[in-house]
Amino acid sequence: MNNKVPKIILAIETSCDETAAAVLSVAGPSPRPSPRGRGGKGLLMIKTLSSVIKSQIKLHSKMGGVVPEVAARAHVKNILPVVKKALADAKYLISNIQYLAVTQGPGLIPSLIVGVEFAKALSFATKKAIIPVNHMLGHLYSPFGKISNIQYPNISLVVSGGHTMLVLVKNTKDYKVLGQTVDDAAGEAFDKVAKLLKLPYPGGPEVSKLAEKGNPMAINFPRPMINAKNYNFSFSGLKTAVLYYVQSLDTNNLALSTRQDICASFQQAAVDVLVTKTLRAAKEFKAKSVSLSGGVSANKLLRKSLIVNCKLLKVKFMAPPMNLCTDNAEMIGMAAAFMLHNGYKPKSYKTIKADSNLEL
Ligand code: KG4
Ligand code: ZN
Repeated sequence: MNNKVPKIILAIETSCDETAAAVLSVAGPSPRPSPRGRGGKGLLMIKTLSSVIKSQIKLHSKMGGVVPEVAARAHVKNILPVVKKALADAKYLISNIQYLAVTQGPGLIPSLIVGVEFAKALSFATKKAIIPVNHMLGHLYSPFGKISNIQYPNISLVVSGGHTMLVLVKNTKDYKVLGQTVDDAAGEAFDKVAKLLKLPYPGGPEVSKLAEKGNPMAINFPRPMINAKNYNFSFSGLKTAVLYYVQSLDTNNLALSTRQDICASFQQAAVDVLVTKTLRAAKEFKAKSVSLSGGVSANKLLRKSLIVNCKLLKVKFMAPPMNLCTDNAEMIGMAAAFMLHNGYKPKSYKTIKADSNLEL
């Protein structure tokens, strides 16, 4: 990438229930590897010029979860105004944009298709090439953007509503998934526990709010796979344990303190597993930094626990600001910037297709 003139990227994200667009400017020194494997001199300068998110939470909370077809219809309605606002907020015209970036997958296929086909139509009309971005790469890079000294190797815990994975990042080009969930994702478990307790969608923030006033030691829920000699996770057994516990009580008359204790004990069990495995990977791979991302990275206990433990381990800890934890287009633009920096050649609209199972 020619580093002298900043490149302007228009990024689009529609993988689930947020219609999002962002404009970023990208400039930086040449991708010269630095001697000690640190980001240092080879780092990009990424500036977010605008970021717009149109949430569908109200629409889906009536149904207690995301209904794919409803989400897709809302994306169709929202995408043009969201993109126009992102351009207007950044004070750019579409003609000033060099590249389009769009989430290609993974995600809900009806939702992904709206963003991808919109980007393709825009590409056809404006002759701008497209950078198709893996949504998980967006989450993975979301804590990296504004940090000037990323220290490798890095262990990244990516925890969202659809995924839970531990990734060994040797640099922004070289990463390897060490393990992932074999059933439910961590965020999905939070959402399901919330549903059991009749809390509104999305459940993660509601469970963690109730947990703040509860006793995390009140109920000894299982910590699945915490001692397994691999980096996979499993949250479905934990969720079922909460279900059985709730069923053993009078579900229609659960005292607030009981619900607080259930949330706190569940949250503690989930966080114990996530933190234990992340730290084990950090030790095994002699990580110099640990990062946390995805919707569940907004969880205060998870953040605090990783901050404290990384300090003890003397490794740097990175997490995105709150606005970059849940789905947004800024992180998709950031991932596209790193891809360009690493020599990726943007593609013609003719070759791009949404892929709900796209792997990292
Ligand atoms: O990354 P994201 O916005 O969407 C996916 O790519 O899946 O993550 C959404 C997930 C939901 O499951 C939501 O309940 C969870 O992140 N979440 C939280 C918190 N905030 C959002 N989970 C636990 N504690 C939170 N504070
Ligand atoms: Zn996500």
